[in-house]
Amino acid sequence: MIESSGRNPAEEAGESQHEAFGRDVTLTEFIIGEQRKVPHATGGFTALVNDIRLACKRIGNAVGKGPLDGIAGKTGTINVQGEQQARMDVVANDLFIRTTEWGGSLAAMVSEELDDVYVVPDRYPRGRYLLAFDPLDGSSNIDVNVSVGSIFSVLADPEPDAPPGPASFLQAGRRQVGAGYAIYGPTTMLVLSFGRGVHGFTLDREIGEFILTHPDLRIPTATSEFAINSSNARFWEPAVERYVDECLAGHSGPRGKDFNMRWVASLVAEAHRILLRGGVFLYPRDERAHGRNGKLRWLYEANPIAFLVEQAGGRASTGDGPILDLEPTSIHQRTGLVFGSTEEVERIERYHRDHNVRPFEAPLFNARGLFRDAG
Ligand code: AHG
Ligand code: MN
Ligand code: MN
Repeated sequence: MIESSGRNPAEEAGESQHEAFGRDVTLTEFIIGEQRKVPHATGGFTALVNDIRLACKRIGNAVGKGPLDGIAGKTGTINVQGEQQARMDVVANDLFIRTTEWGGSLAAMVSEELDDVYVVPDRYPRGRYLLAFDPLDGSSNIDVNVSVGSIFSVLADPEPDAPPGPASFLQAGRRQVGAGYAIYGPTTMLVLSFGRGVHGFTLDREIGEFILTHPDLRIPTATSEFAINSSNARFWEPAVERYVDECLAGHSGPRGKDFNMRWVASLVAEAHRILLRGGVFLYPRDERAHGRNGKLRWLYEANPIAFLVEQAGGRASTGDGPILDLEPTSIHQRTGLVFGSTEEVERIERYHRDHNVRPFEAPLFNARGLFRDAG
């Protein structure tokens, strides 16, 4: 039964939305509630989020069918990243475009699976927003039935009267209007932020709607869980080598405590774990020829995840400082990315500062090592 206070109960300060409605809060209700907080909002952004939601439901549905749909395996084609495309990468990309292009909110899109900017065709009304997305993140996991996801970032078109192009997207991540991801795991969830906290919604398959299940996610400032692909260890920068060495040294090392490690190889799954229980994630730049700028894509992987992490009270960094303050210079640019519990990310930034000025001589992390500290 909905209480009739005369205004959207979700707007009532200090009350959880669940309590205010007296029943589950749907994503539709939530985004309309958010729209009502913005004076003179046109509803364009709300409509866009609504379409992104549907795109994610469609992709989640296709992913959930796996090989039953005949779209497992590789296409045999290589994308702009030089990576093998999975069939599902292409299907998800198509679903994302077709579900969002028509609505009148978008001017253009950038996708991991498209070489160039996709300008919304003339047959549809042109909107004020730009969408950057990774239609299927972690797609190397898709054929082994491990969690994958979709990531999206929404920017305002800086020049709505000029034709959109790559330069339109080259904005600092702090200017994102909204960002989020869908995770297709044991449950399908949408986690998003419009700049007022991070909220998680779980798909109720029986009614076909996302329900607010994780309001106002907060990342704990401290953690003892880290995530990195250690097979790249021989290429790491000294700061990263030192950080991981110290974690591995555990209780008897300079950190004085044991650490746990995870690596799913799905950015979405790692970000989700960190948003729910803390931790730190590193995909640093490294010394491989193709790793010098990192692996993750700035516009549609790093920026949206960084936005969510900051909104949840965590920190997201290139290793040197907050990534959201920097402007990318090309649409498929890669970047080093470190994010999660603030204390760990700040420590990693400190190590980068230290080792930029003097070379690292590992291992110096034992009980009598130079790097033993109280923290
Ligand atoms: P995508 O599937 O969209 O290409 O992204 C894969 C990314 C990211 O999700 C993950 O964190 C990372 O690549 C895994 O990289 P490694 O295979 O090098 O561990
Ligand atoms: Mn990805
Ligand atoms: Mn992808």
